[in-house]
Order: sequence, then C-alpha cells, then structure tokens
Amino acid sequence: MPKYSSSRDLQDGIDVRPQFSRDGAVVDIPRRRMAEQSVDPETAYNVIVDELMLDGHARLNVATFGTTWMEPQAEKLMAEAADKNLVDRDEYPQTAQLEDRCLDIIADFWNAPEPDNPIGCSTIGSSEGCMLAGMALKWRWRDRMKEAGKPTDRPNLVVGANVQVCWHKFCRYWDVEPKEVPIRKGETTMHPEDVAAACDENTIGVIGILGSTFDGAYEDIAGMAKELDRLEIEKGIYVPIHVDAASGGLFAPFVDPELVWDFRLERVQSINASGHKYGLVYPGVGWVLWRNEEARPEDLVFRVDYLGGDHPTMSLNFTKPGSGVVAQYYQFVRLGYDGFKRVHQHSRDIAQMMAQAIGDMEEFELIADASDLPVIAFCFNGANTKSGKPRKDSYAANVQYTLNDVADWMKQGGWAVPAYHFCADREELEIIRIVVRNAFSRDLAEMFLMELGRAVGRCDGTGEDPGRAFRH
Ligand SMILES: Cc1ncc(COP(=O)(O)O)c(C=O)c1O
Repeated sequence: MPKYSSSRDLQDGIDVRPQFSRDGAVVDIPRRRMAEQSVDPETAYNVIVDELMLDGHARLNVATFGTTWMEPQAEKLMAEAADKNLVDRDEYPQTAQLEDRCLDIIADFWNAPEPDNPIGCSTIGSSEGCMLAGMALKWRWRDRMKEAGKPTDRPNLVVGANVQVCWHKFCRYWDVEPKEVPIRKGETTMHPEDVAAACDENTIGVIGILGSTFDGAYEDIAGMAKELDRLEIEKGIYVPIHVDAASGGLFAPFVDPELVWDFRLERVQSINASGHKYGLVYPGVGWVLWRNEEARPEDLVFRVDYLGGDHPTMSLNFTKPGSGVVAQYYQFVRLGYDGFKRVHQHSRDIAQMMAQAIGDMEEFELIADASDLPVIAFCFNGANTKSGKPRKDSYAANVQYTLNDVADWMKQGGWAVPAYHFCADREELEIIRIVVRNAFSRDLAEMFLMELGRAVGRCDGTGEDPGRAFRH
C-alpha cells in the first residue's frame, strides 16, 4: 500500500505546530495511544481544531435532516446544560420539568386525547423512540394473543420497503419478522390497500411514515387506518399503527395543520419524532408518545431509587444529556407556534423554488417537489417509469454519466449531496435528494442551483454554464 493512501491513517504522532506548544517545547502526542504526559489545554484544543478543519461545512450538507444551525443563545444554553444528566431527576428537577413541559407541548401538537397527561419521554433520537414504540406494540400483541389462547412465537411488523433502517434494527434486535410492503412502480410510499393485505393475526403493528427518508413524502396514514378498520370488520384482526414522524412530527403540525395523521386517528397508538430534525435542535434529542396508558405497557417502565427519589424510567439509555431537552424548550419558548410556522414555511418555499428550477432542467425529472417535507428528489429525465426502464429516447436512456458524478462535482464546490438508489423494489431508480432546513436561505439555494448547473456542464461536457439550472 502506498505510504499515503486513503485507507490508512496519518503517521503515528500528531504534528504539533511551533505556536501550539509552550516555548517551542517538543510535544509528543501519539495518534492512537494515550501519551505518557499531559499537554496544555490550548495545545490539545488547537491540534484537534486543525484536524477537524477537513470536515465538510455542516450548513452546506443538504444530505442530512439534522439541525445544523441554532441561535447563539440556544448554543449558550446547551453549553451551560452540558453537565446535566437527564436521568438525575432529583438532582436536576428543573431540567426534568422542562422535559415534562416539552411533552405537554408535543402532545398538544399531536392531538393526544389527554394532552395534560402525556404518556411518553424524551429519547436520544427517533431510533430510540422507534425501539420503545416497537416494543410496546410487541408486548400488547403478545397480551392479546395470550388472552385468545394463541401462540406468540411468530410476531411480524408490517413496514414499507421505504422504512428507515431503525425498523430493520428493531426487527432484528427484538426478534420480529419484518413484512415489507413493496412500493408500487411509479410510486414512492406504501399503498394503504397493500398495507392491510400484508397484515395477519401475528402482526404487532403497521409503521406509517410521516416524511419518508427517501423523498420526504408523507404516507397516507388516514388511508391506512381506514383499510385497517376494514380488515378488522371483515376478518376480526386488530392491527394498531405507529407513526414514525421522525421528520414530519415537528413540521406538519405547523404547515399542514389540516392533515389528519396523528392521535386524531383512533388506530394511531404511538408517535415518534426527532427534536434534532425539524424540532430545530442540534443532535441528539427525540420524542415518543403513546395514546394512553393502555398503549404503553406498564412493564416497559422501570423504577429506580438509587439516584434519590423514586422515578419511572423507560428508555434504552440510562444516562442522557439534558442539553437537548433544554434546547428544545428554548425553541418552543423562543419561536412560539407562529415562529415555527414561519421558519418551516420559509424552508418549504425555498425548497419549492428549487424544485421548480430543477424540474425545468431538461436533464432531470422531479420525484419529490417539496409539497410534503421541504425535500427535493430528482432522477434523470425519463428514468421514473412503471416498467423500471428509462423511457425510450429520453435523457435517461442516453445519458453517459451518473448522478454520482454530479454529486462528486457538487462536492468539489463544497456541497454534500447524496446520490443513491431508491428503496427495495424501486432500486433501479437512482436519485439525488436535497433536504432544505432552517437557515438555508434563498441566497444559498441560488448558489446551490448555480453549482448544480456547473456540475451538469462538467459531466456532459457541454461547458460550465451555471445559468442552466438557475436564471433570474
Ligand atoms: C423516517 C425516519 N425514521 C427514523 C429515523 C432515525 O432517526 P434518528 O436519526 O433521530 O435516530 C430517521 C432518520 O433520518 C428517519 O428519516
């Protein structure tokens, strides 16, 4: 292997520049072992800052749903709360209060039947919320089956082929068979009729997604509920819904309040969301709520008294940072309903402007135009067909480069843009996805579009006309 290859790390010792050590002293900091001697905090700080310089710029990363900008006051609050462990409710009763208040606020957004008595907790993110909600589904199914004198050894969970990986993890970790509903050609979310058809008496629940990871589309949760009602009437099989609202849960209540997807639907038993996505907080904070006590089995709750007091805990982690909860409460107080609505509407407006510009390019065809989450997804023009093959004589049928090439050129311009294949059953479809978030301004959007025009020009050899993607 060459001495400098991307698959090896840098040489053993960290190079400490002369300015970073006191009086030019020689400082030895091995990279992968612990040094014998201490170094000054400034030295440690500076060498690490130098190493991190090569990370991309978070705000130019349009691949992530995660929050990449917060106000300085919020950052200050987070730093001030960094030493608080959320599990120490006796030691930090006020931080615990803020968690409870956030749960009240979110229960109200999600139309919980008893918003003053929310049944839920904060989590590290949506994945933890999904694990907890999935366990509740499994426990409740087991109780129902035992009551009916039926076997409980073959639970399954009905998910779309478009679910996020956390549901595959849930199924594997908790020994549940995933029953994947294929996504019909030409569509990107589950069809409600297909959902009901996949269910049987071993189904612990159905996962509906409010804001697909692949293209930001909301699944038709109300449609699924209707089909599952029909299943119950016709076959006597009861199947509850959990809504994975990782991204949509703190977006839709502000910009699509009329959309019925939450606890207004009787069949929805639990919902999760990431505070660190459209909850506008840095990673990692999330939320999970159940409809009522009955939906969240009591034996998922543990009581501990070794931190003082007797507190129920229901999470996979014990120790958890309090700073995310404090920052979530800050955002609720700071922005209020109207502020959240303005921030999210702004993201949607910008995303729709970008979608229009990209849709106008002859090279591309939109898969998602930001009508749900502010997410734009596009493929080569003519690639999104029911047959799975590019339309004859279309751009996609003749193109000599890939979307990965476009993403590579975008990277050279500083932008992190993911190009990937769509979910199972639609793998033939290669797309690029852009997630618009808080602090993505119209100016940034225009710069992005110019870079996209440049990247396409480099790929197809027609020159670097940035104007092809964006004209005033
Ligand atoms: C639909 C969906 N569910 C779950 C997750 C996992 O969320 P987290 O990263 O907060 O654990 C994601 C992350 O993108 C997601 O999009």
